[in-house]
Amino acid sequence: MRVHTFDTAPALAKALAADLSRTLLAKPDVVLGLPTGRTPIPLYRELVRLHAAGRADFSRAATFNVDEFFGVSAADPRSYRAFMQRHLFDHVNLSPRRIHFLNGAVTSGAAVQRECDRYERAIERAGGIDLLILGLGTNGHIGFNEPARALAARTHCSRLKPATRRANAPIFGNRLTAVPREALSMGMATILHARRIVLLATGATKARCVERMIFGPVTPRLPASFLQLHQQVEIWLDRAAAGNSLADLQ
Ligand code: GLP
Repeated sequence: MRVHTFDTAPALAKALAADLSRTLLAKPDVVLGLPTGRTPIPLYRELVRLHAAGRADFSRAATFNVDEFFGVSAADPRSYRAFMQRHLFDHVNLSPRRIHFLNGAVTSGAAVQRECDRYERAIERAGGIDLLILGLGTNGHIGFNEPARALAARTHCSRLKPATRRANAPIFGNRLTAVPREALSMGMATILHARRIVLLATGATKARCVERMIFGPVTPRLPASFLQLHQQVEIWLDRAAAGNSLADLQ
């Protein structure tokens, strides 16, 4: 795993946005996988800035978001889709037909399976994901692949852990009961099939998990540890998330 450490979260965001702008130049029809959460917000802000300055053209790019809450429609301001509209999609020139999202508004079990299969096929039709950017849950989840005895390979409906629901409570007015119990998420194989993966972690609350992800065993108890199996994975950290164990690894 290649580790990049930056002094601050804004410095990391700037460097990654510059990397993305170079990627867009080299491959204008790049297929991106994108995360939600607090961590990528500075990155999206920086991308919007670069786009406004004429340095990031998304006109031929495609995006696939990693996850979405179950039972929450795209139009709901609490959906991850709405989050992406606010932070990125409304401000750059992505073509709406090349923005791909899991539809959380599905209801029956059969419809959930169909929706997950549809997403897998759409990724395949797009030629696979060139660059997948991920956040990291403090319990080691990536997307909504939660720690478990076994992990799902493909896009699926996942049961959220209490800690994950608590972390997402601010989106739901801090009412824990309002946070969905389930979510749709790319699976571990969907993630590991991306050609390049960049995992972002900032802040001291992620340090312990980052250390286990990089130095610990590959285990479904820490889904992010599976990234150790990928050839082109980069871990982008700020100093706080790097903690002491990674201080010399740059
Ligand atoms: C959420 C999302 C993940 C995200 C993670 C980290 O629950 N499902 O996709 O990467 O938690 O979020 P944050 O960046 O806010 O710490």
